[in-house]
Amino acid sequence: MITDQFGRTHNYLRISLTDNCNLRCFYCMPEENYDFTPHSKLMQPDEIDTIAKIFVEHGVTKIRLTGGEPFVRKDASKIIRNLGKLPVQLMCTTNGIRIDDMLSEIIQSDFQSINISLDTLQKEKFLKITRRDYFDRVFRNIHLLLQHNIKTKINVVAMKDINDDEISDFIAFTKVHPVEVRFIEFMPFSGNRWSSNQVMTQKDILNIIREKYDFNPLPVGFHDTAKPYSIDGHKGSFSIISTMSEPFCSGCNRIRLTADGKLKNCLFSKKETDLLTPLRNGEDILPIIESAIWSKAKTQGGQLNEQFEKINTSIIQNRSMINIGG
Ligand code: GTP
Ligand code: 5AD
Ligand code: SF4
Repeated sequence: MITDQFGRTHNYLRISLTDNCNLRCFYCMPEENYDFTPHSKLMQPDEIDTIAKIFVEHGVTKIRLTGGEPFVRKDASKIIRNLGKLPVQLMCTTNGIRIDDMLSEIIQSDFQSINISLDTLQKEKFLKITRRDYFDRVFRNIHLLLQHNIKTKINVVAMKDINDDEISDFIAFTKVHPVEVRFIEFMPFSGNRWSSNQVMTQKDILNIIREKYDFNPLPVGFHDTAKPYSIDGHKGSFSIISTMSEPFCSGCNRIRLTADGKLKNCLFSKKETDLLTPLRNGEDILPIIESAIWSKAKTQGGQLNEQFEKINTSIIQNRSMINIGG
């Protein structure tokens, strides 16, 4: 197993396939013009396969594909087919636009669950947040996944004055649909105009839900990012990802690989470790991986404050979210 200096073992690999995306969500993209990574600098399908196999041989049992938007990559199907042959749980986080195009691949590769990013149930607001008019297609695609009994989670980045008025609407959605709606506390990344005033904390979210619903906490897995709750009579459930107000780093089992082949030992790590160049040079990358994970910081890349209200965004050194993959 790949272990860090605090004894955490890592069995969950998140692979970003591309930093390109067919949406332009303001909280994910940097404000200035963003140059997407050229194809030649991205890990190629055989390189992804080789790197993934090394991780699997050393204890990885779960691989999540992320982006940008993973399904905009033209060779996504080939990559998925390769990874689908490995003895892992294969998962994906997507904005849902291309689910219809990818459905047969999703079914054949036996995806364990699909996480869809959707921050609003209102078509007009979707356009404002994402700067693209794809609400109807994403909504249809969520239903398509449910029709095929594919486990679906909806990721909602909860932000004050943006979608805090829709928290109850999302809960109402879980009454009739068997989905897990996950409210995510808004996190700071390079160029995403984060301010602590905009964070809807776990407490804020639960207070809003409490006004209309009785809910019960469900057991939380040691490695889980989300704290789940059920509501009697609802087909679905909801959960909260409390990175800012109540981080969950002690159970962290995650490793990230950026689309250009850099290992990040934490979502908030400043340091990155190039795996792609040594792989292309024929080097053994296992010792490089082991040393990069060993040096992982105890919490939040050593960069965020315990109290998120005191975070000084100007000193955080990281990529933008579109370039990490979440
Ligand atoms: P499940 O496997 O379904 O629990 O998904 P996940 O939470 O691992 O992945 P997903 O891509 O759906 O991420 C949902 C949110 O959780 C995103 O905002 C991620 O940035 C955040 N998240 C995922 N992994 C981590 C992590 O290791 N640390 C922190 N702080 N946040 C994470
Ligand atoms: N804070 C919290 N979550 C974010 N995501 C993207 N940017 C942020 C942010 N700044 C979410 C997306 C996606 C997941 C991978 O990360 O909505 O569902
Ligand atoms: Fe793991 Fe870093 Fe997320 Fe904490 S912030 S859970 S250490 S990836």
